[in-house]
Amino acid sequence: PVLVVDFGAQYAQLIARRVREAKVYSEIVPHSMPVAEMLAKDPAAIILSGGPSSVYEPGAPQLDAKLFDAGVPVFGICYGFQAMAQALGGTVAHTGRREFGGTALATRPEAGVLLRDLPAELSVWMSHGDCVTEAPAGFAVTACSPGAPVAAFEDVAGRRAGVQFHPEVAHTAHGQAMLTRFLYDIAGIEPTWTMGNIIEDQVAAIRDKVGDKEVICGLSGGVDSAVAAALVHKAVGDQLTCVFVDHGLLRAGEAEQVEQDYVAATGIKLKVVDAADRFLAALDGVTDPEDKRKIIGREFIRVFEAAAREVAAAGDVEFLVQGTLYPDVVESGGGTGTANIKSHHNVGGLPDDLKFSLVEPLRTLFKDEVRQLGLSLGLPEAMVWRHPFPGPGLAIRIIGAVSADRLAVLRAADLIAREELTAAGLDRDVWQFPVVLLADVRSVGVQGDGRTYGHPVVLRPVSSEDAMTADWSRLPYDVIARISTRITNEVPEVNRVVLDVTSKPPGTIEWE
Ligand code: XMP
Repeated sequence: PVLVVDFGAQYAQLIARRVREAKVYSEIVPHSMPVAEMLAKDPAAIILSGGPSSVYEPGAPQLDAKLFDAGVPVFGICYGFQAMAQALGGTVAHTGRREFGGTALATRPEAGVLLRDLPAELSVWMSHGDCVTEAPAGFAVTACSPGAPVAAFEDVAGRRAGVQFHPEVAHTAHGQAMLTRFLYDIAGIEPTWTMGNIIEDQVAAIRDKVGDKEVICGLSGGVDSAVAAALVHKAVGDQLTCVFVDHGLLRAGEAEQVEQDYVAATGIKLKVVDAADRFLAALDGVTDPEDKRKIIGREFIRVFEAAAREVAAAGDVEFLVQGTLYPDVVESGGGTGTANIKSHHNVGGLPDDLKFSLVEPLRTLFKDEVRQLGLSLGLPEAMVWRHPFPGPGLAIRIIGAVSADRLAVLRAADLIAREELTAAGLDRDVWQFPVVLLADVRSVGVQGDGRTYGHPVVLRPVSSEDAMTADWSRLPYDVIARISTRITNEVPEVNRVVLDVTSKPPGTIEWE
């Protein structure tokens, strides 16, 4: 792998993703990992990420210069660039002169390999206090900016290079080209991380692990479990049984998508449990959001457990598939073994006599790779590109108690919003588009010939990178207008449509 050494900034995951985009496999390791351990991974190259603004900062992470003795290609970015300069005998000046944001870079493309064929002037993303004033011996300086006399350097023979700016962010022009240049032309790495190879490797690994045992997987309708199951099915065929618990809280068409389209596309053996009545009964009269979540989680485990027992009774089930992704692995410390499982179908709640070993075929993948994989495996596009959807489903988008009638109203309104978003070609511009029914609020309207006393729905389109923070999406007014007109015309119980214009924080994405 290419190792991305995380110096504590938020950029390491982004760098790792960009490396994968160049079709090279990457892994993130903490800067505290001893050099010997990094080298034991037989890295094709090491990329030192950004981090604190100054190598002089008290407690700033140190770079062990032994890293440079092993002959492994190294690329330093921002903090990693300065740490590299210092370790190799260059000079880092504690100027305190900051550059932050878009910065004009003057380059000497012909002076080296990294910036070859790129324009002599580039706009790049900077974020630094100190700067490198003198490159280490043997390094050519190929760029400078007003605040960084040495903004890029390289030693092609030694297979090392570095840049003060952030090539991994979209604001840096030609950043991906620079990373690719380093990987291919300086480090000499072949682009072999392709969907075809990923599938082949994973299929082999799954077969190896599972042998002739049976496997079970819970499908939620979301992309992760769908892709994980499809991959396992490709590897072991009908040794896999999927269980889909329909809790009756999904949106219009979603249960059918799993039960019909997905099964048709994959040929997977699916056990459907229609538990809608049971969930509705358990939720009867419940209005507190946390209570709703707990009830749904509890019921889910019970229903899944019963279904798993039936499947297990029929065969020698030893494995459970989980759609754990690489960011979960990194954020939970990157350890192997225990998975950090989110969402309501956390089957860690299963009783001891039903404990399975985990199969996690997506553990090394980023979300965008999972989507590509889903497409390569022939899954329906609507499923692959589905927006994130909370485990407790529409129950936490009805403000007030949940009932079959209220679910029907919300489903109708939600479908209209989704149809219009898709028609406007904006599905991939928003992260998520909850529609919320204020079931305990009533408002007066005139619909048709008479006064009505109906309910408002809230449109909550948001833009986000990772759901940790979000901003309300500036959807075109005409799209919002169409959604509003259609909902108030086609859903008689709703006579008012309002737009949520709150960022996160302070507002969460969901209303409950
Ligand atoms: P909030 O509302 O906290 O949501 O900003 C962040 C993201 O998490 C989703 N979400 C959930 N997902 N079970 C889930 O599986 C839950 O209980 C849950 N609550 C919120 C939400 O849709 C958003 O993508």
